[in-house]
Parts: sequence; C-alpha cells; structure tokens
Amino acid sequence: MRDDLSGGLGALQRIPEGRNRGWPCTRGKVRLESQGTQNMTEKTMGTVELKVDNLDLSFGGIKALDNLSFQVDKGLIVSIIGPNGAGKTSTLNCINGFYRAQHGEIYFRGQRITKLRPDSVAKLGISRTFQNIQLYTGLTVVDNLMAARHFLFKSTWLEGALYYGRTHKEEVQHRWAVEQIIDFLELERWRKSVVGTLPYGIRKRIDLGRALAQEPKLLLLDEPMAGMNVEEKEDMARFILDVQEEKGITIVLIEHDMGVVMDITDRIVVLDFGRKIAEGIPDTIKKDPVVIKAYLGEQASTLA
Ligand SMILES: Nc1ncnc2c1ncn2[C@@H]1O[C@H](COP(=O)(O)OP(=O)(O)O)[C@@H](O)[C@H]1O
Ligand SMILES: [Mg+2]
Repeated sequence: MRDDLSGGLGALQRIPEGRNRGWPCTRGKVRLESQGTQNMTEKTMGTVELKVDNLDLSFGGIKALDNLSFQVDKGLIVSIIGPNGAGKTSTLNCINGFYRAQHGEIYFRGQRITKLRPDSVAKLGISRTFQNIQLYTGLTVVDNLMAARHFLFKSTWLEGALYYGRTHKEEVQHRWAVEQIIDFLELERWRKSVVGTLPYGIRKRIDLGRALAQEPKLLLLDEPMAGMNVEEKEDMARFILDVQEEKGITIVLIEHDMGVVMDITDRIVVLDFGRKIAEGIPDTIKKDPVVIKAYLGEQASTLA
C-alpha cells in the first residue's frame, strides 16, 4: 500500500531557481520529476485575505459542506483537494455568491460577503474560473477579455451610446489592460481568433485570462488543468505561479493532479464528504494517513 502521495503520481516539482519568465528549461518553472519539494516550511504572509467560517450547505438530504472552516493568507496559493463530490466546487460557489450556505460566514479582507451576489463579490475583487469553461465561443480572444472587464467601465450608457469623452478614454485603457493580459499569458498568436475554434488547453488559458481581466485580488481556480496533457499542465502551472509572484494575487486552487498540487501550493485544505479532514503544508499532507485513506478509498481516478 502506498504510504504517501508524492511519487508515482506524475509529480510536477517546483524548481527554486530560474523562476523568471523565459527561463529555458521545460518552457517554465516546473518539470516532471519527483525531487522533494521546497515547501518544507510554512509560508505565511500574515494578513488574512479570506476566512471561511463554519459553513453548512445542504441539498435536500445531501450535506455538501459540513461545518467547514479555513482561511487563506494574502499572497499564498491554497489548494482545496478531496475526492469527487467532496464539496470543493460548492466551496468556491459559496465564496463567489453562486450558492448561499444555510449556516456560517465568509469574510474577504475582513468584510462579510456571505450574502453578497456574484456580481458584488466580483466587484470586490474575487474572480474565478470554472470546471466547465465559461467563454463566448463566437467572440475573439480580445473581445472575450474586453467583455470580462465590462463591469469595470465607469461611463454611463448615454456616454457609451454617443461614444465620446470618458467612454473613448476608458475603451483605450481597457484595451491596453487586455493586451497586457494577452502578453502575460502568451496568447498573442490567438488574439484575433474566435475562441470556439481554439484547442481546449488554449481555451482554459483564455478562461484564466478572463478571470484576470477582472483585476482580482483573490482568484478562485476550479480544476484549471483538467483534461490537459502534461505539457499544457506545465504551462498552466507556470502561469499560476506567475500570477501569484508577479501580480501578487492570492489563489485558491482546486486540482486533482497531486503532483501539481504538491508542487505549486503553499497550503492545502483536504475535504471529504463536505468536512475538512486535514490542513497544512504539502509535506505534511502527503504523508497524512487520513488523507491517503480518503484518496485510496476513491482509487486511482483522481490520483492519475
Ligand atoms: N446544485 C446542486 N444541486 C444538488 N446537489 C449539488 C449541487 N451542487 C453540488 N451538489 C452536491 O454536493 C456535493 C458536493 O459537490 P461538489 O461541490 O460539486 O463536489 P466536488 O467539486 O468536490 O467534486 C455532491 O454530492 C453534489 O452532488
Ligand atoms: Mg468540482
């Protein structure tokens, strides 16, 4: 029986040096090899960005979340892991206002957001990507990113209709911001392509761009690497690290690939049947017998 979750799972290991963009090896900062992780010690920035406090969420007789509490410190990548149906997506849905928990509170930068609607949560600076990509497949990459920024526009509909003054200036600013994201995610060659014609891995990257276009302080990523091949996963892992390090954005990540999770994550929260069964740094989590049991109970589908 396997006694930890590190090796043999296609572990992507973070490489401490050479973390600048354009670093030549394996097109990024991660490679497919298990070498032990640099996340040996607990990293904390001290300021609490997100606090989830005693959340209960039920659908009929099913308890999706059961007294769930955890917090995310500013600047960290925190992964939520757990078998299928453990409540990972439901947690993100509560945070961004899609679901309303029956009990408990959620605080973002000290502000209670428990009952806010998704658009209000987004305005405060929480953006997300989805398990199923949410893009306008008939629009170009640039237009998708522009559409994502719409709620940041300040001009009135009348100014917009007449397209003068503030509207024009705003449009120029937003286009510039979109081009920055396209450059950051290396999407230049597809900028004018219609999204529906692009490969799945690229669309996942555009979906990350859509979330970034909303200028988040906190980014919620729901399985951003699902269905990707190894090379696409490496690229996405590198972009996620860049988002954290270059943009200083705090990230909550749901991901099934334990190699990726152990490699790029600062802290892990483990869910099973809606309950938190473990929490800590990757080195501790991957040796935790309770975690291993929860995963082995579900067998290889989520570990592969
Ligand atoms: N909208 C919903 N209606 C009914 N049941 C739901 C709904 N959303 C989630 N659930 C249930 O809540 C549990 C947790 O689901 P989910 O959060 O999607 O799990 P995970 O993302 O960890 O796979 C599952 O039993 C799921 O069927
Ligand atoms: Mg899910």
